[in-house]
Parts: sequence; C-alpha cells; structure tokens
Amino acid sequence: MTQLSAAQKSADAQRGPDSGKALYGGKGTRRITVRDITAAKERGEKWPMLTAYDAMTASVFDEAGIPVMLVGDSAGNCHLGYETTVPVTLDEMTMLSAAVVRGTSRALIVGDLPFGSYQEGAVQALRSATRLVKEAGVGAVKLEGGERSLAQTELLVQSGIPVMSHLGLTPQSVNTMGYRVQGRGEEAAHRLLRDAKAAQDAGAFAVVLELVPADLAAEVTRSLHIPTVGIGAGAECDAQVLVWTDMLGLTGGKMPRFVKQYADLRGVMAGAARAFAEDVVGGTFPTEEHSVR
Ligand code: KIV
Repeated sequence: MTQLSAAQKSADAQRGPDSGKALYGGKGTRRITVRDITAAKERGEKWPMLTAYDAMTASVFDEAGIPVMLVGDSAGNCHLGYETTVPVTLDEMTMLSAAVVRGTSRALIVGDLPFGSYQEGAVQALRSATRLVKEAGVGAVKLEGGERSLAQTELLVQSGIPVMSHLGLTPQSVNTMGYRVQGRGEEAAHRLLRDAKAAQDAGAFAVVLELVPADLAAEVTRSLHIPTVGIGAGAECDAQVLVWTDMLGLTGGKMPRFVKQYADLRGVMAGAARAFAEDVVGGTFPTEEHSVR
C-alpha cells in the first residue's frame, strides 16, 4: 500500500482552505472536509451551499467555487418528477450522489439520507450512510431531526461518518407537519433550540435550519459552536443553502418567498428549444456548416 509521505501530506494541507484560506474565494484545490467547515465557523466566515443532482451541473458549481454541495432528497421534486421527497429511495440517492462526486474535485459533497433509510434506528442509518460513503464517495451525510435522530447521529459520527442535521421544516415529515414555518411560539422555539443542541452534542458538524423565524435562527447560530445553514431562516446563519433549480429559475411555478432567483434558465431553455424546433421545421438547421461531407 502506498503511504503518503509527511512532506506530501503537509503540501496537501497547504493547498487546502484549512491553511487559513476562505471556503469561498480561497485558492485551495484539494477537496474540502468537515474540518474546514469547523474552521470557518471559528473564523466567523459565511459560506454558500447549493444542491446538485448530476455531474455536469455540479461541475459548473465546483468551478464557480461553491464549497459545499448537497445532493438533497429535493431531487425527488426537482430532478426525478415526484411530488414530494418521500418516495426517493436510497438507490436513487446513491446514484445521484456518485454522479455529483464524479463531477467535482473541490466541494465537500453531502448526501441526503432519504425517508425510510434511517428512521428504524441507528444500525439502519449506519448501513444506509455507509452506502453513500462507500458507493457514492460522499464526504458527509444529512438526516432530518434533532433529538429524534440522536442515536443515528451518534453512531454515524462514532463510525467516522460526518453528519449534517436538518431542523425546522423537515420535508420528509410533510404528511404530519405540512410545509409550514417552524419554531413559532415559545414552546416550539425551545424545542428547536433543544434539537439543535442535541444534534451538536451527538457530534453533528452543521445544522440546516429550514423555514425558521430569523430571530430564532440567529439565537441558535449564536448558541452553537457548529455552523447553521439557513434556508428561509434569515441572514444571521453561518451559511445559506438554496435548491439550485429554484436559484437559477429552472423550477416552474410560484417560488417560496425565501428564494432569490439569480437567472431564468427555464426561459432560456424554452427559448432555445423553440428556436431549434423552428429551425428544423423551417429547414434552416442543419446548414452547410453543421454538415459533414
Ligand atoms: O433536500 C434538500 O435539498 C434540502 C435542502 C432544502 C436543505 O434538504
């Protein structure tokens, strides 16, 4: 077996963001790890995360310097044509995560554990997470729930698998919870704080806060030593995540208020598809320049 020399290890460390470089905008070229995420919180640095579901899109975000990509089970709605995230399977998540890992060389890739792949208990969670790590090559996994997923988080972390927790609105519970703001009212706010602390104590390296009042998300962010990743949770979170198809305007229909649309890919793609169709129907494509002789 080839052993990395001490000099090589030190050179690798120098190239990475944990040598003091920013997660976004830094010059590091090696793959980002959860240790770099921890260091960013210590530096008080904010960072962006985007979802990704395929190699090509992920490669674009990697080139743009996005330091963390989530292969979210939002793939269910945004990539696979399901109505919710509930039907997404571990086989599907493994295939999509592997594609995203193959398309990237720098970003930390977090693979989502889909509904039904960890709720039975810690051992089931370990079996599922191990597939994402071994078969897909992700650097961390995400699961929903704080106290209710404590045993799962503890066993994964003890087994060497970094865990990102997901609190607030947890879409896998849509059938009991709906899609509503979470943490409103004193009791719900206390529960969220307790969940966030429980996730941290169990060893999670970061916590997603989805659709949580901004003041509460700010309080959680101040009270944790691990980073919070907000989506609809205000500006005080350490990081922000958006679903890429929402952020780039590919998802059709009405967007939630927390989505900022940075492009209109749906319009661009539909326009290009119509232009192609009209060229074919009108006989103006292919021309001489697109033909072989
Ligand atoms: O599946 C997903 O994309 C997510 C993000 C919205 C955080 O869980």
